[in-house]
Amino acid sequence: MKIISLLNFKGGVGKTTSTHSIGAALSNFGKKILLIDLDPQGTLTFLSTDKNIENSSTELLFHKITPEECILKETEFDIIPSSIKLATSELELNGHYGKEFKLKTALESLKDSYDYILIDCPPSLSVFTLNALTASTDLIIPCECELASLEGLELLLATLGTPIKALNPDLKILGILPTKLDGRKNISREVYETLQEEHKNLLPPIRINSKLSELGIEKVSIFKYDKNSNGAKDYFKVAQVILDVKA
Ligand SMILES: Nc1ncnc2c1ncn2[C@@H]1O[C@H](COP(=O)(O)OP(=O)(O)O)[C@@H](O)[C@H]1O
Ligand SMILES: [Mg+2]
Repeated sequence: MKIISLLNFKGGVGKTTSTHSIGAALSNFGKKILLIDLDPQGTLTFLSTDKNIENSSTELLFHKITPEECILKETEFDIIPSSIKLATSELELNGHYGKEFKLKTALESLKDSYDYILIDCPPSLSVFTLNALTASTDLIIPCECELASLEGLELLLATLGTPIKALNPDLKILGILPTKLDGRKNISREVYETLQEEHKNLLPPIRINSKLSELGIEKVSIFKYDKNSNGAKDYFKVAQVILDVKA
């Protein structure tokens, strides 16, 4: 089983869309998938479920109930949703011993139930992100194809080095995922080319696609919403690469 965190300290780069769509793509390949929303904003939860949320990633982190009791079962994947309680619990969690290991411990009992667990991180190096980094086997860094992203990416990789070494020396960067590639804009293509030159572990790019921005409407994945869209095709290719990557 792999536990993959999707992380970038910048908001709006496609972390949540990618967690949702890669999860659904892997599910289409017959894999058993759990998504975890660790962002107090709860966008992944909004995209994924209409259900009433009783237990969330907050209860999971504080070990208040069993992980199984936090799970909502949707058609394409299971999800542990976020709730606004997560935002207000940050201070409290910071006062706990072993605060960075809460998620890792909580997920132990789920290891045999899933092929992949994907974690949607908040856009900061908060205690939630540290929990995700500690619990994960792999990291995917979505990176928007725009100029400011190049500098942001170097900063992110430099900043991550220290906590990764301390908390989880085995964590692998599975890949950098170029997002919102806009073929009509020179700058977008140029940033993508620079990413290709500078990073060996680049995943196939996700083109800008309006269907992806409509995902919240029907609470289904891009593959159910419009399987012929560029968004569906691009995320399908990313899933193929993830399935090919050896442990
Ligand atoms: N490839 C894409 N094409 C068009 N819109 C996208 C694409 N990826 C994400 N979006 C939109 O961009 C916004 C930010 O994406 P989101 O996944 O929420 O980013 P993050 O989680 O990094 O903040 C959302 O409105 C989303 O629908
Ligand atoms: Mg998000």
